[in-house]
Amino acid sequence: MSTLIKNGRIITATDDYTADIFIEGETVSAIGLNLNVSADTIIDASGKLVLPGGIDPHVHLEMPFMGAFSSDNYETGTLAAMHGGTTTVIDFVIQSHGKSLYDALREWQGRATGKVFSDYAFHMAVTDFNADTQTEIKDLIGKEGISSFKTFMAYKGSLMIDDRQMVGLMKEVKKHGGIVTVHATNGDIIDYLVAENKAMGNLSPLYHYLSQPEITETEATGRFIDMAWQTGSNSYIVHMTSEGALNKVRDAQKRDQKVFVETCIQYLVLDASVYDRGFESAKWVMSPPIREKKDQKALWAAINQGVVQTLATDHCPFMWEDKCKGEHDFTKIPNGAPGIEHRMELIFSEGVDKGKISLNKMVDITSTSSAKIFGMFPKKGTIAVGSDADIVIFNPGTKHVLSASTHHHHCDYSAYEGHEVTGKAETVLLRGKVAIDHGSVKIQKGYGEFVKRSKLTNIL
Ligand code: URP
Ligand code: ZN
Ligand code: ZN
Repeated sequence: MSTLIKNGRIITATDDYTADIFIEGETVSAIGLNLNVSADTIIDASGKLVLPGGIDPHVHLEMPFMGAFSSDNYETGTLAAMHGGTTTVIDFVIQSHGKSLYDALREWQGRATGKVFSDYAFHMAVTDFNADTQTEIKDLIGKEGISSFKTFMAYKGSLMIDDRQMVGLMKEVKKHGGIVTVHATNGDIIDYLVAENKAMGNLSPLYHYLSQPEITETEATGRFIDMAWQTGSNSYIVHMTSEGALNKVRDAQKRDQKVFVETCIQYLVLDASVYDRGFESAKWVMSPPIREKKDQKALWAAINQGVVQTLATDHCPFMWEDKCKGEHDFTKIPNGAPGIEHRMELIFSEGVDKGKISLNKMVDITSTSSAKIFGMFPKKGTIAVGSDADIVIFNPGTKHVLSASTHHHHCDYSAYEGHEVTGKAETVLLRGKVAIDHGSVKIQKGYGEFVKRSKLTNIL
């Protein structure tokens, strides 16, 4: 099967030019002006942007969390991702206390296998690092292609590990060529503030926000960075939200320490006024919480300065019924919000169209850097001869309004209800196959493949 995409404006992390792309089978086989080839399918991309398929490095599909399951499973969640131009997602396998990492992997494989529309990979979340867990790291990296290990410095009693476990894990992961990633907030301070608010009868969603002030993120970010410095581990901080945390990364750069940073689209687009809406604010109860306008500014600047490399969604939707479990106690509201479908169009609309970032930067943070950091480049993350033909034909002029009534998330509310965006993924190809065309789905579930990732030795 062959496809010719004609006359598109091809954007990579470094280039911007108009050419044709010839695809044979699953990969790009030629790029050039006026290619003289015959193809089974011809797509005219005149006036459109042609982008590498998006990679969302942080999603939670069908995740058991806080007494519920995130409401998008592998089928609905990856289909929503594809509608929005994200062709690869990295989800989190989460170890249960007392069980092995391989036990968790088998459980997650059972949920995903045969159901996935997009390509996908796994991070392994280590919640119980001990002598047994330690022996599994080598094979997870070498045999399973899972080279990134997630840790939590918060959610004590369920997900959090202590600093001793953290440095032990870092040393082991370093030995075998992986990277340690982290949810960096100080769980003990947060738990103290939560208890204090509850004792005072402060039970509305606003107090979720007030129990996680910026300092809790700044402190944990600095501590994690110091542990990575001490052990020499590759390090990546997920969902960074705040100016204080960014400044800890800048401090590390002064001693020539490389720390990779992810932010999420909601932290760029929304501000803390979402917590002024009574119980409706439960829609945006997530950790860390949405922050101030000054933090938004700091995040945009950090993207342009290269302090932030990747843009994710931390897609973790819950049905409103589940959110309502916390109607009288914010600690019972499952943390997370939907967004997997909207990352590409929101960053184009709010970032590129409003002149905050370049198109090359958009491609870099939505695709290329994640592929490089997590061992998928150049198979994924770019448009080049030999790379997977994961391609988004993006119409920069299409205006539309985001709403729960039209999104593809399996979630009965939108975190962006009524938000008008400019730009839309029109045609999405995954490994050479047209998967989405003007909203209609052309592939079956199960087309998505697991991506085995390589060891991470010289990242970026
Ligand atoms: O609130 C969030 N972010 N839910 C998902 C779990 C996590 O901390 O990433
Ligand atoms: Zn987190
Ligand atoms: Zn998350």
